[in-house]
Parts: sequence; C-alpha cells; structure tokens
Amino acid sequence: MGYISVAIDGPSGAGKSTIALAAAERLRYIYVDTGAMYRAIGLAVCRKGIAEDDAEAIAAALPSIDVSLAYEGGAQHVLLCGEDVSEAVRTPEIARYASKVSAVPAVRQFLLDLQRGMAARSNILMDGRDIGTVILPDAPVKIFLTASSAVRAARRCKELREKGQQVTLESVKADIEARDKLDMSRPVAPLRQAEDAVLLDTSDMTLAQSIEAVLRIIKEKIEG
Ligand code: DC
Repeated sequence: MGYISVAIDGPSGAGKSTIALAAAERLRYIYVDTGAMYRAIGLAVCRKGIAEDDAEAIAAALPSIDVSLAYEGGAQHVLLCGEDVSEAVRTPEIARYASKVSAVPAVRQFLLDLQRGMAARSNILMDGRDIGTVILPDAPVKIFLTASSAVRAARRCKELREKGQQVTLESVKADIEARDKLDMSRPVAPLRQAEDAVLLDTSDMTLAQSIEAVLRIIKEKIEG
C-alpha cells in the first residue's frame, strides 16, 4: 500500500513546525521537521570548527555526521550521532549555520535520500523549504505556508524570549529577512512555492485557525 505524504513549505517563522506538528497529531501521521535536520548538520559543522561558508570542508565532514529523528510521546527529537540536540539546535547562531550548510549541494543530497526514505515508510507530514518542489514532487497535498515578515518576527521573538533568550524585535526581523533572502536566492533547491501548492497566508490567523485551515486543505485534497 502506498503511503500519503503532505508537503508543507514556507519561509522561517511562518509557524510551519507548530502547525504541522499539530496537524500531524490530528491525522496520526509522522511529522518530519526537515529544518531540524539542517540545523543538526549546522550544529555538527559549528562544533567541528568548520567555517560556515567552507562548502568543501562541510561536504567532507558529512560521512562522520549521522542525523536521525526519534519520536517520544508525540514529540519529535533530532539526534546527532545519537545525542539529543533538539534544544541545542534552536539558537540564532545555529539557525545561521543551518541556512549556510543548506546551500551546499552535498548536504541537500545527503538529506534528500534520508527524507525520501522516511516518506516511503509511513504516512508523513513533512515541512521545510523544498519538500513540494524537490523532495516529494508527487505528494498529493502541498501547502505553501507564509505570513508577513513583521508577523513572523513578532512570533519568533516571543518564542525565543519564552525560552529565556534575550533578543530584540529588530534583530529577529533582520535575521528572518536575511535568512529569507539566503533561502530564496541559493542556486540549489531555493525556497519557492510549487506550482500545485495551495498558498496559505496566516498573517491574520490565530494558531488554531491556521491548524484548521491546513487540515481542511488536506481533507479536500485527499478526499477529493
Ligand atoms: O525551518 P528552520 O528554521 O528550522 O530551518 C533551518 C534552515 O534550514 C533554514 O535556513 C533553511 C534550511 N532548510 C532548507 O534549506 N530546506 C529545508 N527543507 C528545511 C530547512
């Protein structure tokens, strides 16, 4: 029997992870946060002391990097060589590393195989930047989730402050806009909406409304 894949793409801070996790729980699908996988590679590169723009050294380090996802009580954990780095990858520094390593073709190829393998084994809801365009071009449901950069920055700022990180709204907005630019302008698998993706702008929606909207799109696409 074939498994169902739902692809959710969009820029940073659009609420993809929170919305996708909640929708996956309701559907009883496995949630795959591909951003966390790029972040784990970013963390590995940072720990190895490799410069974030040294593509050659990053590619050379891949054979010694093992990234996997584990699930515990509905929560997803990202493991780097067996170590749970779910929290460690959530800093602005590692976000920047993730963005840089994600532009390296060898890194994208490395994760492409891993991600397609996951989609072949279960019903999944996968979020990222290139899921509908590159990883799962035949996914029956594709959603491009976005929100204005002001709204995304405000949400991300709140989230980081709740975790005890001292950040300003201006710096978070600047980070988000810089990452959008990097993600959209890289030559390999840039962030863009797949032609057959449904656009969902959550700027004026609450979290609950966004989750309902995603579930409605999935239901319509799957049930016809
Ligand atoms: O979604 P996130 O903020 O956790 O993603 C971290 C970085 O990884 C982001 O800058 C873009 C990159 N990324 C990517 O290039 N492709 C994906 N499928 C997911 C994330």
